[in-house]
Amino acid sequence: MSGAAAGRTAVIAGLGCHLPPDVVTNEDLTRRLDTSDEWIRSRTGIATRHVVDPGTATSDLAVEAGRRALDSAGCEADAVVLATTTPDQPCPATAPAVAARLGLGPVAAFDVSAVCSGFLYGLATATGLIASGTAERVLLIAADAFTTIIDPADRGTAVIFADGAGAVVLRAGDPAEPGAIGPVVLGSDGGLSRLIEVPAGGSRQRSSGVAPAPGEEFFRMAGREVYRHAVDRMTASSRQAAEAAGWAGPQDADRFAAHQANARILATVADDLGIAPERRLSNIERVGNTGAASLPVLLAQSAAEGTLTAGHRLLLTAFGGGLSWGATALVWPDVKPV
Ligand code: COA
Repeated sequence: MSGAAAGRTAVIAGLGCHLPPDVVTNEDLTRRLDTSDEWIRSRTGIATRHVVDPGTATSDLAVEAGRRALDSAGCEADAVVLATTTPDQPCPATAPAVAARLGLGPVAAFDVSAVCSGFLYGLATATGLIASGTAERVLLIAADAFTTIIDPADRGTAVIFADGAGAVVLRAGDPAEPGAIGPVVLGSDGGLSRLIEVPAGGSRQRSSGVAPAPGEEFFRMAGREVYRHAVDRMTASSRQAAEAAGWAGPQDADRFAAHQANARILATVADDLGIAPERRLSNIERVGNTGAASLPVLLAQSAAEGTLTAGHRLLLTAFGGGLSWGATALVWPDVKPV
């Protein structure tokens, strides 16, 4: 668990998102995969998703979302944290290039790697930078060109994952202010890392001296097992986050934003937590699962559409590879994407 030091924490001051313009429908996928619009909609809740065009990298999405968040906040940042599963290259981190392209100068910049939980891990990290006095304003971006690691022939993942970027600007402020980040509940279970993985391309495979087998450079997911863990972990961490925030329970949430993994998972988690359907934010039908970007894209779109407004008590939770998960509770501030 990561908490803010008494008297000084991070406060959300701006947000923005960017989705690549190309849209792929379920019907488009049926032309190259043995699947159907009915299967995808009923099992995942997804109808369309945005995908990068050839040559577009994670940093390209991140720069757009980051610029919008900075414009929304009306300020610059002295640190950039980028949560991503799909860095532009294995080395170096992508955040310094993003900071440079945003014209932020020689600021602190690094990546956070926590797959679909990346935004919440990044939020805890950025809050720590501010609470410790290391930074005054952090640009936290969560961006994934997730389709670049998906096996186009794997119908179990190709119908779910998509591309996008979302960002928030966090400034130093008081824990009692709307938008203040309090305790972030975080957890992991590396004993189950094989349930979500890209087997090849890292030091394990490279040091073996054996070339990757066909397909090992792609993302793999044991969908059914992941489903069960996602429900358990998002439910439990949401309860912990509500308690850590001093709420009576998750049912206190005016709005519930969960990582947009699968509409059935989201419904099960929200039902278990006693959160009424009209309080659940969702955009999975339009954007699919955008990895680390999922939560900030959902927040930015909801704030733009008016379904998330100042004063709402907001419960956030995510789950992803690692396995990793997280949750936090806050009061939504008076910020809107530009
Ligand atoms: N179209 C049609 N059929 C498909 C399909 C597709 N896109 N994907 C899988 N199937 C088939 C399977 O081959 C299987 O067929 P079989 O019974 O003949 O073997 C059948 O559908 C059921 O497969 P299963 O994997 O058990 O389906 P499911 O109901 O569990 O749905 C997922 C699959 C991937 C949608 C679901 O497991 C899921 O959402 N898991 C969690 C994923 C997630 O949230 N990941 C993100 C974590 S960050």
